Amino acid sequence: MKTKKLNAQEVAEAACLIKQGNLVSFPTETVYGLGADATNELAVKEVYLAKGRPSDNPLIVHIASPEALLPFVEGVSEIAQKLMKSFWPGPLTLIFKLKNNSVFSKAVTGGLETVAFRMPNNTLTLDLIQQSGTVLVGPSANSSGKPSPTLAEHVLHDLDTKISAVLDGGMCSVGIESTVVDVSDEQDVPTILRPGAITKEQLEQVVGEVRFDNHLVGKAETPKAPGMKYKHYSPDTPVLMVAGGAEVFQSALNKYKDNKVGVLANQALIDQMSGYEAAYSLSKKSHVKEAMQYLFAGLRSLDLVNPKLDLILVETYPNEGEGLAYMNRLKKAAGEHYFTLES
Ligand code: TXA
Ligand code: MG
Repeated sequence: MKTKKLNAQEVAEAACLIKQGNLVSFPTETVYGLGADATNELAVKEVYLAKGRPSDNPLIVHIASPEALLPFVEGVSEIAQKLMKSFWPGPLTLIFKLKNNSVFSKAVTGGLETVAFRMPNNTLTLDLIQQSGTVLVGPSANSSGKPSPTLAEHVLHDLDTKISAVLDGGMCSVGIESTVVDVSDEQDVPTILRPGAITKEQLEQVVGEVRFDNHLVGKAETPKAPGMKYKHYSPDTPVLMVAGGAEVFQSALNKYKDNKVGVLANQALIDQMSGYEAAYSLSKKSHVKEAMQYLFAGLRSLDLVNPKLDLILVETYPNEGEGLAYMNRLKKAAGEHYFTLES
């Protein structure tokens, strides 16, 4: 099957494909999702096959209005309502208790008693969901383990011939996946299971205390979001994080001078270095939101340099605010490896 690239005028065709049980990738403000009818078990199973995704990793259900989750969940707490009101449509996923006798198969929930919902902030995709007349699962539309896609071309690179179509909405504006917050237990403090562009501080302004899942603050515990335990976001080329400014980058380039090295950093930093084979600018000057938007695109771009690079060096940001989400993805892409003069 050749994967069709559909444009903004072809949403009806995309909706038709979804209704028939096919897979269609859709744009969102975070990353591209791999869409299928969440109530069609066969179609959902195809999503796992196309991505090569472990079957115990549950999917986020995408809806076009907050009310659309009501038929599927046990209840919506006051805290959840406040979060939906403040951040939807937007890069926030909320975890709810699943209603008994839910129409979702285990393939959607990974067999958990909870289910994740998100209302994405992208008019094409909100239209697509509405015209499909259903709700859509939407894992990131990459091959499992690879950086998430932020352009339709990234989706085609990983999934061409494996899915029916990709709806092209241009470059994603946020660039990393949504913040996932567990609000399934009213007695519990809302818990961030996956950091994203919506920060702990932003959430706390709306609902008071919010905490991080233990694995995010360095405790040796299994993450509550099953997807957080897998290898992720990794290009084929090895990635090293560089903590420090131009001098530290230059020491790294000197150390690896016999290798082909790519640099992923802000342009001002790149301009102060020499001896690299290829560079990709994450922002003009050091700017974490922009770096977040281009991180995955940069990793993919440097991974495709021909002949292949031996190593990609990437700038780090302080582990706070949006930097926390940037570093969460980068650490995984780099397998936690930092450049040190000794290594
Ligand atoms: O921004 C996003 O969230 C993107 C776009 C396409 O919407 N989607 C996305 O989906 O990142 P995916 O499947 O790549 O990541 C979903 C994450 C995984 O870490 C999964 O384990 C977690 O959400 N998750 C889903 N349902 C859950 C549940 N019931 N309890 C805990 N974690 C859950
Ligand atoms: Mg993913």
